[in-house]
Formats: sequence, C-alpha cells, structure tokens
Amino acid sequence: MSALLEVSGVSVSFDGFKALNNLSFSIGKSELRAVIGPNGAGKTTFMDVVTGKTRPDEGRILWGEPPVSLLGKSESAIAVAGVGRKFQRPTVFEDQSVQDNLMMALSKPRTPFSVLTFKPASVDYARIKELAEVIGLSAELGRKSGELSHGQKQWLEIGMLLAQEPKLLLVDEPAAGMTTAEREKTTRILRDAARDRAVVVVEHDMDFVRKLDCKVTVLHEGSVLAEGSLDHVTGNKDVIEVYLGR
Ligand SMILES: Nc1ncnc2c1ncn2[C@@H]1O[C@H](COP(=O)(O)OP(=O)(O)OP(=O)(O)O)[C@@H](O)[C@H]1O
Ligand SMILES: [Mg+2]
Repeated sequence: MSALLEVSGVSVSFDGFKALNNLSFSIGKSELRAVIGPNGAGKTTFMDVVTGKTRPDEGRILWGEPPVSLLGKSESAIAVAGVGRKFQRPTVFEDQSVQDNLMMALSKPRTPFSVLTFKPASVDYARIKELAEVIGLSAELGRKSGELSHGQKQWLEIGMLLAQEPKLLLVDEPAAGMTTAEREKTTRILRDAARDRAVVVVEHDMDFVRKLDCKVTVLHEGSVLAEGSLDHVTGNKDVIEVYLGR
C-alpha cells in the first residue's frame, strides 16, 4: 500500500517536555487506523502537527503522491490539500437545520467567498441526501441541529467533514460520551468512510477499537511503542507494562 501520509522523525517540545519524540509512522491511501495510548502519549499532538496547528521542532511530514511536505503550510492550506479533522466537541451550527449544516459544509472548499455566493443546485441536494444516509440522519434533515442527541451531532460533524471530500479524516475520541448503540453506529460510519479515504481514529475505548477491526498504532511518550492488530499489540509486553503501570 503506498503511503498517503508519512510522518518521520517528528519531535515537538513544550517547555522542554517532548510531547512527540522522533515519531515515525505512515498511513496508506484507503486505510482505517486506530491510534491508542495512555493519556499524554501524544495522540492529539500528532493530529496537531499533521493539521498545521503545531509546528514540529524536527522531522518530516510527507503527503500524497508525489509526496509534498506539509511542514510550513497553513492550517487552511492543509485542509484544502485534503486533511479533515474532527475535534472532540461537535461544532455544528445549532440554530441551523441538519440539511443547512451539510449545505454549508458542501459550499466551503471552493473559494473563500463561495460561502456568501453559493447557490445550491440539485446535484448538491442529491449529495446531501447521500451524506445523510452515510451518517444515518436521513430522517433528521429538517430538524434543528441543536435538537439532536450528542451522538447525532457527532455524526453530523463527520458528515460535514465528508462533504468536503477529505483524503484523510482524523478523528479524536469519537466514542466519548456515546451510548453503546451510538458507538456501534459510529464504528460503522467510520468503517464506511474508510472505504474510499484514509481514516485515523484516536480512541481509548478498547471495545470500540476492536469493532473498528483495523491496524492499531500504540503511542507512548511521543513515539510508536507497537503496531499491528489489536490482539498483537495488546499481547506486546511493553504495551502491557505501559497500560498496567498507569
Ligand atoms: N499546547 C501545549 N502546551 C504544553 N503542553 C502540551 C500542549 N499540548 C500538549 N501538551 C502536553 O504534551 C503531552 C501530550 O499531549 P497530548 O494531548 O498529545 O496527549 P494525548 O495522547 O492526546 O492524551 P489524551 O489521551 O489525554 O488525550 C501531554 O503531556 C500534554 O500535557
Ligand atoms: Mg488527546
């Protein structure tokens, strides 16, 4: 599998503390990957450096084919290049309907002014219908987003990110605060999303990670501690030590 994203030798320090320490790993083109690790392992910082929010002290971040460096690019340039990021708290427009939220997301990537002049065409409504099916909100399109459950808001935000057709979707702790049924639906949505793009999911919940049924990267103290199937990494003695020694 050729790499879509290759992080190599990346280090980030905050006041002398190394949040990322010579971090190296790569993500394939249509790969679903789970990133796990104890609190403070550097999982969110990894997403911050890929999305341009935090600048690494050293290392390389290569993107696409032929590979180009993401270092030095602005957050918006990285988003336009195809990296979508979902933060933990859903950031949907609560006063707007589900449909309007998705429509706004559709209008976004074109030009900075297109949000103001954007006129939805029938192809856009068709795309919204499709997206609503993917995120399981077809019956909620006319509802105000503020009325949705926590899980539904998270799915709406995933839908808004998918509307921009990212090549890589980064998702930080999507299952936090969700019911068991919502978690199951979230694994389905993420697995579907990874059919034609790469999806990287940071998550603490091991049942959730098991259901993703994908390769797992374990971070610890800013580096990769182990990588492989969930059974492989949870059988690794260094991983066991880190988790039991917390
Ligand atoms: N902006 C910042 N300034 C100072 N320290 C930071 C900053 N961001 C992260 N850190 C520190 O870097 C380390 C890694 O943090 P990070 O948020 O990446 O961990 P994480 O793996 O996402 O943890 P969690 O599972 O708790 O979300 C932590 O010790 C954190 O306190
Ligand atoms: Mg985090």
